[in-house]
Amino acid sequence: MALQGKRILLVISGGIAAYKSLDLIRRLRERGATVRCILTSGAQQFITPLAASALTGQRTHTDLFDREDEADIGHIKLARDADLVVVAPATANLMAKMAGGQADDLASTVLLATTLPILIAPAMNVRMWLHPATQRNLAVLQGDGVHVVGPNEGAMAEAEFGPGRMSEPLEIVEAAGRLLAPAGPLAGKHVIVTSGPTHEPIDPVRYIANRSSGKQGHAIAKAAAKAGARVTLISGPVTLPDPAGVTTLRVESAREMLEAVEKALPADIGIFAAAVADWRVANTGGQKIKKKDGALPELSLTENPDILATISRRTENRPPLMVGFAAETEHVIEHAKQKLAKKGCDLIVANDVSAEIGVMGGESNTVHLVSAAGVETWPTLSKTEVARKLVERLGAMTGGAS
Ligand code: C5P
Repeated sequence: MALQGKRILLVISGGIAAYKSLDLIRRLRERGATVRCILTSGAQQFITPLAASALTGQRTHTDLFDREDEADIGHIKLARDADLVVVAPATANLMAKMAGGQADDLASTVLLATTLPILIAPAMNVRMWLHPATQRNLAVLQGDGVHVVGPNEGAMAEAEFGPGRMSEPLEIVEAAGRLLAPAGPLAGKHVIVTSGPTHEPIDPVRYIANRSSGKQGHAIAKAAAKAGARVTLISGPVTLPDPAGVTTLRVESAREMLEAVEKALPADIGIFAAAVADWRVANTGGQKIKKKDGALPELSLTENPDILATISRRTENRPPLMVGFAAETEHVIEHAKQKLAKKGCDLIVANDVSAEIGVMGGESNTVHLVSAAGVETWPTLSKTEVARKLVERLGAMTGGAS
């Protein structure tokens, strides 16, 4: 598997498997990757920064408060200047810190600061691996989009047997290669996803919003990345974390969202799942509107740009496959068919958002796919499953293997 020109940030934490990470550096470099290392203080009990530097040909980083390092590259730059972060070995302690969002040394700070895809190769004693706390942390990390390779089952350093052995360097190289040269139904495609609500200011402290949580849009962004796509997620204000391995741009208003989408073009697929406010306040001022006895403020509304329609109707740089959503409270399919024509998109994913169904903010969704080919109704599925199936379908529609 070629890793030509790829930049890998290798975080080595403190376990006996750290000795295998030196071989991992060699294997990654043999395939053309550039490797830069961070060693935790635990890792330095097993291997030295000098050994890592000798093998990478790069300076090895160890200290969050290293004056020279911070002046030179800085931990935020370190968190950005790579294509992939590999954590090998990932100890139970580092996994716990990652799952809890702790940042008390260089490795954990960089892992919290990075938006790059992360691959971890756990390595620990079998009982530590099977402990509910570690399994809980693993589930949290996977939910955050962290990729995991291993651990393998076998004899361990403490003369015990079971899962907990770090994957072999070549297995880690393969897993890194799959992430960096992804295969999947959307491999090589650029996908733009909009998600969440928009906030339209009334004055500097008040705004108009809606109940969209962004769960469906974010799930689609994650599923598209998993299917091999390069994903730009343009999100309105949500409480969800930025998905790992996805470029997330946060915006507030509909106009900012349209601007961000236009900047992100060209793309192969546009999936417009955001619940964009239809109107904004035209008479916003620079100051907070004061309460006056007996007098109500008058808000004058003006129409927001329709992002989906604007992009679908472009003659230049229109993504060849445009997908819109239709959140309706009645006549769902009928309205979706009208919307397909009105917006000029290729597919509408329609759903019923009546309050009693609880789609807004909920975990599941019942959708109908409406296109020129007809209407297809899917059973009620989790939003993650709707995202996975939709991405698989889009892969088939754009000529990828499904
Ligand atoms: O017209 P309606 O809001 O029901 O259309 C929903 C679809 O249009 C969604 O895909 C939504 O993201 C998109 N939309 C948009 N810009 C707007 C309004 C809706 O992109 N201003």
